[in-house]
Amino acid sequence: MEERVITNHELSEDTFEKTIRPDSLDEYIGQTEVKTNLDIFIKAAKMREEPLDHVLLYGPPGLGKTTLAYIIANELGSNIKTASGPSIEKSGDLAAILSTLEPGDVLFIDEIHRMPRYIEEILYPAMEDYVLDIIVGGESSSKNIRIDLPPFTLVGATTRAGDLSSPLRDRFGIVSKLKYYTEEQLTQIIKRTSRVLNCPISDDAALELARRSRGTPRIANRLLKRVRDFAQVQGDGTITLEIAKTALNQLKVDPIGLDDTDYHLLKSIIEKFNGGPVGIEAIASSIGEEQTTIEDVYEPYLLQIGFLKRTSRGRIVTEKAYHHLGIPHQENMLDTLL
Ligand SMILES: Nc1ncnc2c1ncn2[C@@H]1O[C@H](COP(=O)(O)OP(=O)(O)O)[C@@H](O)[C@H]1O
Ligand SMILES: [Mg+2]
Repeated sequence: MEERVITNHELSEDTFEKTIRPDSLDEYIGQTEVKTNLDIFIKAAKMREEPLDHVLLYGPPGLGKTTLAYIIANELGSNIKTASGPSIEKSGDLAAILSTLEPGDVLFIDEIHRMPRYIEEILYPAMEDYVLDIIVGGESSSKNIRIDLPPFTLVGATTRAGDLSSPLRDRFGIVSKLKYYTEEQLTQIIKRTSRVLNCPISDDAALELARRSRGTPRIANRLLKRVRDFAQVQGDGTITLEIAKTALNQLKVDPIGLDDTDYHLLKSIIEKFNGGPVGIEAIASSIGEEQTTIEDVYEPYLLQIGFLKRTSRGRIVTEKAYHHLGIPHQENMLDTLL
């Protein structure tokens, strides 16, 4: 499938994100509640000279989990070591990472829900008592050894908090859910990024980009970068409202941030399943996509803006979505009767 400009997954071109990533809590826009709490917990931990409690960050892709993990380490004045769930396949992989930790370090495990269960179990004593229990030797002469670890803070990030086992979830003292950003916050992020990139943008253009960014900073920054190209080639380098609109229409991102994939998904449910309710499996096979891709990537924003509804009988396209698509909405006979 063609790469979506509004994808919330990291693309290779996103390496520029390293320079635009805020590195302190002050620069991190929005998520006020999460920030306020973290600020207090970090200050308290520093005053007590203890490691910060383990932190679990969850929410849809592109909302700032990785950024926040790095900020936590920065604010603690600690080093950060990183790993990702799928890359930890054997107990030895985790043991190797844990044994490099130094006192006060932050260990960031991205996509922590994708770690195998038996690996999770090694993490329990490491998180709770800072010890690592490992089995050495072969079957006949194996023995348990226990290695002390320095005090450290585990920061886990996940898009699916529900996929974590509850014993693992319970071992995080701080659990923070990141929310979609408001237009105003995205406008601030876009302006901040444009300053870092040295690319002037008018207020109304910044707002226009914010409106089409699906509540997601990663998308806001990506749209800004693409629109900047148009401003450079077709204008004098400044992003004006007119340039922003032309560019975004050209990129097929509609006024509320929907693209062809969203249209395809919604129209399939309308045309093939009469608007639903329809099960996620049936949707997946009708548009030829993985069920998890729909659940993790396509669906969350459509649910958020009230274009899709999840019911016990399946997904339903709402009247609001019909209206946006310009398709007449017929009340389901049964629903009107009920
Ligand atoms: N609160 C924020 N303020 C400013 N920029 C942000 C914020 N959150 C995210 N970003 C930007 O969005 C990009 C994606 O964030 P990231 O932390 O990689 O998301 P996640 O790990 O949740 O997928 C970052 O590179 C950063 O530039
Ligand atoms: Mg990330």
